[in-house]
Amino acid sequence: MQMKLLQDRIRRDGQVEPGNILKVDSFLNHQIDIELMDEIGKEFYRQFKDRGVTKILTIEASGIAIATAAAHCFRCPIVFAKKTKTLNIAGDVYTSRVDSFTHKTTNDIIVSKRFLLPGDRVLIIDDFLANGKAIFGLSDLVHQAGAELVGAGVVIEKGFQDGGKKIREMGIDLHSLAIVDAMDPVTGVVFRPED
Ligand code: G4P
Repeated sequence: MQMKLLQDRIRRDGQVEPGNILKVDSFLNHQIDIELMDEIGKEFYRQFKDRGVTKILTIEASGIAIATAAAHCFRCPIVFAKKTKTLNIAGDVYTSRVDSFTHKTTNDIIVSKRFLLPGDRVLIIDDFLANGKAIFGLSDLVHQAGAELVGAGVVIEKGFQDGGKKIREMGIDLHSLAIVDAMDPVTGVVFRPED
């Protein structure tokens, strides 16, 4: 089930930009509406509360506020992967490579080995899912740590890109709070109908 409060907010305040970019910076990833954020955290908790989550993993920057809201409900720490252009600073870290189709960049992402442990039950949280590269990279870090990935939650899935399909095909339990199947600067966004 998608989250109606979020869909309504996207309809009201989201702006569709050329190049299939949905701008949500007035409430999600630049200015942040903390009441909406609380509801988003609760929704992820409702979805994953029975999984024994011990840690929430996200990626800087926009994922951090969302993961924090969820972590309040799960009462667990969040860990955010850091992006770096070079690996020379790498010490005792797990690393993975993430290409961003949207930003046309490649980042190595790193997490200290101290913060992802075998035995951890990890929930991945992020703001957008487009091509799935960020979630794929984060799940790679979880596996390197010998931890268990119990699911992934994203706020907005761009359903017309193939990330969601690929992540689900990998067997990851993915829950998206809003799935945008089409968008247009004039007519706005079309959400995926519930089955
Ligand atoms: P992928 O991880 O699913 O493969 O997605 P992709 O590389 O295409 O996009 C990665 C970055 O682009 C992410 O930001 C994501 O939040 C952002 N992004 C993708 N589509 C949209 C969109 O329609 N609207 C907005 N506002 N952002 C989008 P990031 O690299 O994690 O950067 P940060 O903003 O978190 O620092």
